[in-house]
Amino acid sequence: MSEVVVVKLGGTTLAEQRQVLEEVAQVARRRPVVLVHGGGKRMTEWLERLGVQTRFENGLRVTDPAALEVAAAVLRGVVNSELVAALRDAGCDAVGLSGVDGGLLIGERLPNVGLVATVTGVRRDLIDSLLVAGQVPVVAPLARDAEGTVCNVNADDAAAGLAAGLGARQLVLMTDVDGVRDAAGHKLDSITADQAAALIADGTIRGGMVPKVRAALSALAWDGAEAIIADGSADRALVRALEDRSFGTRVSSRAHAGAA
Ligand SMILES: Nc1ncnc2c1ncn2[C@@H]1O[C@H](COP(=O)(O)OP(=O)(O)OP(=O)(O)O)[C@@H](O)[C@H]1O
Ligand SMILES: [Mg+2]
Repeated sequence: MSEVVVVKLGGTTLAEQRQVLEEVAQVARRRPVVLVHGGGKRMTEWLERLGVQTRFENGLRVTDPAALEVAAAVLRGVVNSELVAALRDAGCDAVGLSGVDGGLLIGERLPNVGLVATVTGVRRDLIDSLLVAGQVPVVAPLARDAEGTVCNVNADDAAAGLAAGLGARQLVLMTDVDGVRDAAGHKLDSITADQAAALIADGTIRGGMVPKVRAALSALAWDGAEAIIADGSADRALVRALEDRSFGTRVSSRAHAGAA
């Protein structure tokens, strides 16, 4: 396992993310950081503006060729460039790339959602060489499938695939809620795979939180690895997500795993 931390930011506006980007720049001075971003809300704005209809299945955007074109343009063009620029403003040597660049992410198409892939492979040496050079890779969630088709990847899935592929010790999925909430609306400090399955089955965990929780679980391939879902707009969100067990929701594969 490596000291790498993979941080995923959700798709809100840059103004809302300035603070957490400052934190990313600070943490990156002490340990290797890989940033992965979503762009759901920004993509919805652009799709509406361009009159391209999309719908969601289990939290995944069903992506036809027209939607893929918009996704690629917005994720790699608009959102990725903004984040790289903001990190560079914060003194961080950020480098933008998508999962297509350098063959970083290998995808496998998911059934019934169009041009959407899940991550099945990571070109680790590419990320390692950027990290060794002191750079912070900023990854847009696109991947090529076995036929070479560019696909959209849910950003939580891309972050989890990278975390597992790099043997990252920590994966932080920053979002716009304080963590995973139970049926009564209370934020859970931790959740196991079995609890997650039950909450997904009864509809308590729904929408974008479904792929997020599944991604968090899939990143726990290494003993001692941690996945945390937390509110990226909170004060000192990244440091607290990494250190404070009462902040956000820690996802573990079984009860008490990683409790020491
Ligand atoms: N049980 C739950 N607890 C907390 N949030 C939940 C739950 N079930 C559904 N949600 C929803 O999941 C949303 C977070 O997922 P969403 O995909 O919308 O954002 P994101 O992943 O942070 O951003 P992006 O998809 O752009 O990368 C929350 O805003 C909330 O509305
Ligand atoms: Mg999402």
